[in-house]
Amino acid sequence: MERKVVFSGVQPSGSLTIGNYIGAIKNFATLQDEYDCFYCIVDLHAITVPQVPKDLRKRSLDVLALYVACGIDPDKSTLFMQSHVPAHAELSWVLNTITYMGQLNRMTQFKDKARKSEENLNAGLFTYPVLMAADILLYQTDFVPVGDDQKQHIELARDLAERFNNRYSETFKVPQGLYNEFGARIMSLQNPEVKMSKSDADENAFILLLDDKDAIRRKVKRAVTDSEGVIAYRDEQPGLKNLINIYSLFSNEKVESIVNRYEGVGYGKFKEDLAEVIIEGLLPIQEKYHYLMNNKDYLEEIYKKGADKAEYHAMKTLRKVYKKVGFIPRR
Ligand code: TYM
Repeated sequence: MERKVVFSGVQPSGSLTIGNYIGAIKNFATLQDEYDCFYCIVDLHAITVPQVPKDLRKRSLDVLALYVACGIDPDKSTLFMQSHVPAHAELSWVLNTITYMGQLNRMTQFKDKARKSEENLNAGLFTYPVLMAADILLYQTDFVPVGDDQKQHIELARDLAERFNNRYSETFKVPQGLYNEFGARIMSLQNPEVKMSKSDADENAFILLLDDKDAIRRKVKRAVTDSEGVIAYRDEQPGLKNLINIYSLFSNEKVESIVNRYEGVGYGKFKEDLAEVIIEGLLPIQEKYHYLMNNKDYLEEIYKKGADKAEYHAMKTLRKVYKKVGFIPRR
């Protein structure tokens, strides 16, 4: 029986946060034994905001090293750079022609970004979700493990797959999003109403996968809670709820058990322990990351092999698409 396919991607636009890790990357490794997994570094997406070329190259390699450091095995999963497989941009073009402007206008991420980057409101930001749909549909993907913030984009990918299939006959598999029950939305440590994001101007709002011990202790200590002073897991204490989620996801201890253990204990002690749990969880990842960054030849081998394998699968789909829309085959 053919194995089901998993596809996901991470932008190399800034250092990765524990939100990226818990919401997405942590799950990538657990899926690789059961599914055929493709994990991409979406550099084409990253240039929708201005990038310093040298930094973009470094960060793209960073994400690859972090994928592996987080337990993704390059012999089991296909790891590659999006720009190495031209079919992504090519399918994106075709899908652009069946995407309604109104659909893209409704994308909340676009609306947010448009507000924040008025001086760089480029067309790439607008059509960003179409490229993401192309990423997913090229591999006949069954499941897409992502955080909550990508839900609307996944819906668009499903919608475009169905529209294309209806118009030109069955071509794409209709993918499903895969969301982590508690970790799908890690919130900012400074404002628990908004998601933790690597692009937040306030450094205290996020913890990076590569933050050192002191930074982690400082950021957790400064995390916004409330004046109730009681450790409880409820919507009225969103800051604390977020911290308990992070504790639980790093320690694998159930929320209930954490709340019981800290009953009657102040926030200070809870935060001290939380910082240590995060430090302990990130340490092996950081060590492996540094080891890999000193072995760039190995990383190069991974992304080259990955691109060859990804391209083989992507081209199978693209050839079908080109044929169905009426392009003359070259050979
Ligand atoms: P990106 O690079 O912003 O984030 C990578 C992954 O991390 C998740 N994530 C979070 N999860 C929980 N809590 C948070 N605070 C948090 N912040 C980020 C994101 O949901 C994502 O899963 N558009 C995508 C990249 C992409 C993609 C794709 C993903 C391009 N093509 C195809 C899946 C399939 C993005 O910007 O992710």
